[in-house]
Amino acid sequence: MPLDFIALALAVIHFGTPLTYYFYLKNKYLSKPWNINADENYKPKVTIIIPTYNEAKLIEKKLNNIYKQKYPRDKLEVIVVDSASTDGTPKLIKKWADKHSELNLKLIVESERKGKAHALNHALEYATGEIVIITDVDSLWPSETITKTLKWFADPTVGAVSCLKKPVGSKVKEVEESYRQYYNILRIAESKAYATPIFHGELAAFRRNLLKKLGGFPIDIGADDSHTATKIALIRYRAIIPENLWVEELVPNKGYSRWRIRRAQHLIQHFAKCLRELRQAPKGFRKILAIETFLHLANPYLLLVSTILLIASTLTTHSLTALGILALGVALLIVKQYRTWIIQQLYLIVASLRNIWTKEIAWSKQVK
Ligand code: GDD
Ligand code: MN
Repeated sequence: MPLDFIALALAVIHFGTPLTYYFYLKNKYLSKPWNINADENYKPKVTIIIPTYNEAKLIEKKLNNIYKQKYPRDKLEVIVVDSASTDGTPKLIKKWADKHSELNLKLIVESERKGKAHALNHALEYATGEIVIITDVDSLWPSETITKTLKWFADPTVGAVSCLKKPVGSKVKEVEESYRQYYNILRIAESKAYATPIFHGELAAFRRNLLKKLGGFPIDIGADDSHTATKIALIRYRAIIPENLWVEELVPNKGYSRWRIRRAQHLIQHFAKCLRELRQAPKGFRKILAIETFLHLANPYLLLVSTILLIASTLTTHSLTALGILALGVALLIVKQYRTWIIQQLYLIVASLRNIWTKEIAWSKQVK
C-alpha cells in the first residue's frame, strides 16, 4: 500500500505540475497586453548570421529566402559562417553571392569544426548591426519577418526576440504539431509574463551590445539560443516570442527520434547551467525559470520512478490498485496529447543519460 501511495503521489506531481503551470499561465497572461512599445517603423541596421555545416542541399534556397525579405537593403548585412563543410557548401555560397552582389554578404570559412556556437562567435567579430539575428539553414521566413521581429526592439526593455515554428515536410509532422500547440502557448504566455527561457535557432534575434556584454554565445552547451536569451532575461531585459511571428522549419524524414533526443540534450544542458543563476533571476522571471528547469531536469524522472514502483507493487504484493493505475496509464496512450507527452518524457530521460557521455556540441546532420 505505501508503495502504491508514493507511486500515485509522484504521478500526481508529474502530471499536475505542468498542467497547473500551463493553465495558470494561459489564463493569467495569454490575453494580457504586451506592455512593450513595438514600432513597425523602427528599422535599425541588422546583421543576419547563418551558420552552415554541410548544407549544400538547402543553402541556395535559404539565401534566396533572405534575399526576398522586405527590408531596406542598405540596412541589411548577412554573414554566413561555415565550419569545414565537406560537401562544397562554401563554393555554392560564393557562387550565389557573385550573382547577388547588391546584397551585403560576407562568408567566413572556418578550417575546423568546433560547433555552431563557436562559429556564431566567430561571425560576431565581424557583425556591425545593432540587432543580430541568428538563423538555421533549414528554416524559411515569410517576407515580412525582419520587420515583424525588429519592431519589438523599438522598446529598450526588449533584449531578445524569437519565433514560433511551423514544422514542414515530414512523415511525423502530426506528432510535432500536437506537441507544438501547448508548447507555443507556453512560450507566448511566458513572454508576456516576462521572458521565455526557450528560444529557437530558426530565428533568434539579440541586441548586439548585450551579446558583447555576455561575451558571445556559450560554447560549452548545445542550446546557444535558449541560454543566451535566458542570460539576457537574467540581466533584466525581456526575451520574448511574440504571437504571429511564424517561421517554417524542416523536420527530418529520417532519424526523427535522434533529432528530438539531441535537442532535448541541449535543453537539459541549458537548464542545468541555469540552476546556479536561479537565485539572482528578476522576480517575474524566477518562477518561470524554476518551473521550466524542474520540468526538464526532474519531472520526467518522477514518471519513471512512479512506473517502476507500480510495477514492483503489482509483482510483489499483487496490488490491484497499482495494476489499475498502470492499466489506465497504458490505455490513455490512445489519446494523442497524452501519448505525445509520454514520448517527450522518454526523450528527456534518454537525453539526460546520453549527456553523461556526449554533449553533441558538433552533431551529425539529419536528412531533411
Ligand atoms: N558553422 C557551423 N558549424 N554551423 C553549424 C554547425 C557547426 O559546427 N553545426 C550545425 N550548424 C548549422 C547547420 O548547418 C544549421 O544551419 C544550423 O547550424 C542548425 O543545425 P541543425 O542540424 O538544423 O540543428 P537542429 O535543427 O537540430 O537544432 C537547431 O535548433 C535548435 C532548436 O531551435 C539549432 O539551431 C539548435 O542550436 C537549436 O537549439
Ligand atoms: Mn534544424
